[in-house]
This record gives sequence, structure tokens and C-alpha cells, in this order.
Amino acid sequence: MSALVKNYNRRRIAFKRGKGSFLYSTNGKKYLDFVQGIAVNSLGHANPYLTRAINKQAKKVWHVSNAFIIPEGERLAKRLTQKTFADYVLFQNSGVEATEAAIKAARRYFYSIGKPQKNRILCIKDSFHGRTLAAIFASGSKKMTEGFGPKVPGFDHFNFADHKGLKKAITKKTAAIMVETAMGESGIKVIPDWCLKGLRKICNKKKILLILDEVQCGIGRSGKFFAFEHAKIKPDIVPVAKGIGGGFPIGAVLMNKKVASAMIPGSHGSTFGGNPLAMSVGNAVLDQIFQRGFLKNVQRSSKYFISELNKLKDEYPNVIKEVRGIGLLLGLQLYNDQTKFIKKLEDNKLLTMRAGENVVRILPPLNVKKQEIDFAIKIISKVCNELTYE
Ligand SMILES: Cc1ncc(COP(=O)(O)O)c(C=O)c1O
Repeated sequence: MSALVKNYNRRRIAFKRGKGSFLYSTNGKKYLDFVQGIAVNSLGHANPYLTRAINKQAKKVWHVSNAFIIPEGERLAKRLTQKTFADYVLFQNSGVEATEAAIKAARRYFYSIGKPQKNRILCIKDSFHGRTLAAIFASGSKKMTEGFGPKVPGFDHFNFADHKGLKKAITKKTAAIMVETAMGESGIKVIPDWCLKGLRKICNKKKILLILDEVQCGIGRSGKFFAFEHAKIKPDIVPVAKGIGGGFPIGAVLMNKKVASAMIPGSHGSTFGGNPLAMSVGNAVLDQIFQRGFLKNVQRSSKYFISELNKLKDEYPNVIKEVRGIGLLLGLQLYNDQTKFIKKLEDNKLLTMRAGENVVRILPPLNVKKQEIDFAIKIISKVCNELTYE
């Protein structure tokens, strides 16, 4: 019997090793892994470049306190700011720590300019920003908050795509709007560019901050380094995690100068956040993602994958309702509950993940090969066929 707390519904498979897009189970089976740790292993399993980087750093120094200068972190932060809207970076260890720090930074900014009453964060109902107490109440999800009262105050909500509702929900106490640029857990719902532009405009008009949670859709997953770059806008604060560590736990909050100016010594901290081992891996991930042509290739793979999935949708119109996504953050919305579909894919050696609204989430590594996409399409087609005629 497992001594682990049963907060996960674990599938009955364990893996002994991985390579690129594939995982090898302890009972000798080979799976095409299009979960990749839920958009974490951006460069696939056991990537030789990342393995070399972590081994090299492990022989030097793993951890020192943030009480000292960490050159590897200085370098990673500098590279992130040179490539993006951000002026400063704060390192953490996970996505939820990054979203929490983003919320803290927004509140602290208004506190620092003498408006501490502006402290409420406006979020999309049933979104996902992680699992700390603040983050579950930010999500506004009944399921996630059940049993975890008392309610953490300071969060308001509007419904996805309800523009009138959004405008109405902004009050004098609103400090920031926080949304996922592309919503992962709740069903691969991509906020269209014109809406992102509108969000930026509203935030400017109301003099509030725009926080774009790119924990799942950032770091190349959308085909651009950040998903909001498609809309050509600049947010104020961006929490990231997952893909930036390629499998090593790293979180970060990117922010502009005005927000960062409020984060004075002692305002936030983390024992592990930004340690030399993590930062070396982060730099190695960026070495790959910043390579010329890397993101173009993600866009090419995405276009091909989406067109092949749409062909399946046309072929099996009673099974697949909609193909969703951006870049390699993809989803198949089914007419029926996706549990059986995902299990059948798994039986055929393709690993995928559930998301809200009956969506099967498909998250290949960013360097996925065309023949691997073809292999996945073959398996998905087989399962669609079985479900149509069973
Ligand atoms: C958009 C978004 N924000 C925050 C989180 C929380 O990240 P973590 O599980 O690393 O705490 C996730 C995780 O799935 C996410 O998708």
C-alpha cells in the first residue's frame, strides 16, 4: 500500500527512463509522451544539452543563499529582460509561488504609491493559478476551494469572454487583472489577440496592472517566447514556471520597472528560489529556445499538428467537437467525457492529459519531430474510429 497522500488520481504506470518524446515504463512498454510533465519538459526527456549543464553545475556549487550574489541567476535574469518587456526578474521554485509573488508585487506597488486600498485582483472564474490558499481563491473554482475556508479575501471574478462583466467588476479597489494568456487546466481556451489588446487598454484607462499568467503557455509553448507577444502587447507582471526549467523546478516573476521598484529588501524571499543549480538549467533551456529558428519550428510543428487534428475532426464529427490551442498547447474537445478516450490513447501507447470542458490536452515537447506527430495522429485516429463504431 502506498504511503503517499491520496490527493492524486494516479494512473497505474511508472517509468524507468525517458528519451526525447518517449517514456519507457517499468514493465517494458514504450510510450509517446505528449504530457511531458504537463508542459514542463520543454526539450523532452533526458535532453543531452540539459543533462550536461546540470552535471557541470552539480560539480561546482548547488546552492547558496540569496544573501549572496548568484552569477548564474544574474545571467538568466539579464537574458529574460533583454528578450522581453520585463526590467526585473524574481526567481521562485514553482508556478504557484510565481503567481503568489505576482499578486504580492501588484499589491505592494499600490501600497508603495500611497494607495493601499487598491488591493483586489480581478480574475476569470474557474481559471487556474495554482494551489496555495491565495491561488485557489484567485481561481474562483468551487471545486478547488471546497473545504479550504475561510475564504482568502481580495479576489473578484468575471466570466470568460464576458466583456461587460469584466468592465463592471473593476472597482476603485482593483489593483490588477490577472488572467492566463491561454487557459490550460480549464480547457485550452486561448484569449484572442484583440481581447488581450482590449485588456491592456482597460488596464491603462483604469490605471491598474495587467498580470498575464504564462506558467503553462509561456517559454516558447505558444510558438513565441510568450503567448502575449502574438497580440503585440506588454503586460506589467508575468509569472512563469514549467517550461523554463525543462523538468527542474523553477518559477519566476517578470515585471516592469515601476512594479519592481516596490519590491524592496525584505518584501519577499525564497530559500531555494534562484539557486545556482536551477539557474544553470534555466540558462541551458534558454540556450536552446533562443537558438535561431527554434520558435519558427514550434510554429511549423503546431500548424501541421493542428491541420492533422482538424482532418480527424472532419473525419470523426461525432467524436471531436473542436480542436483548440496555440503553438504546442493543444486540446481536442470531445462531445463526451474524455476519460475513456485518454485511457484508450494510453492503451495504444500515447500519453495525453485531461483538461476542463471535456478536453484532451496534448503537450508534446517543443522539439517534437514530424514523424512523432504522425505517430500520435495515427493513434488518435484509431481511437476515434473505435469510439465511432463500437
Ligand atoms: C496557468 C498556471 N498557473 C499556475 C500554475 C501552478 O503551477 P505549479 O503547479 O508549478 O505550482 C499552473 C499549473 O498547472 C498553471 O497552469
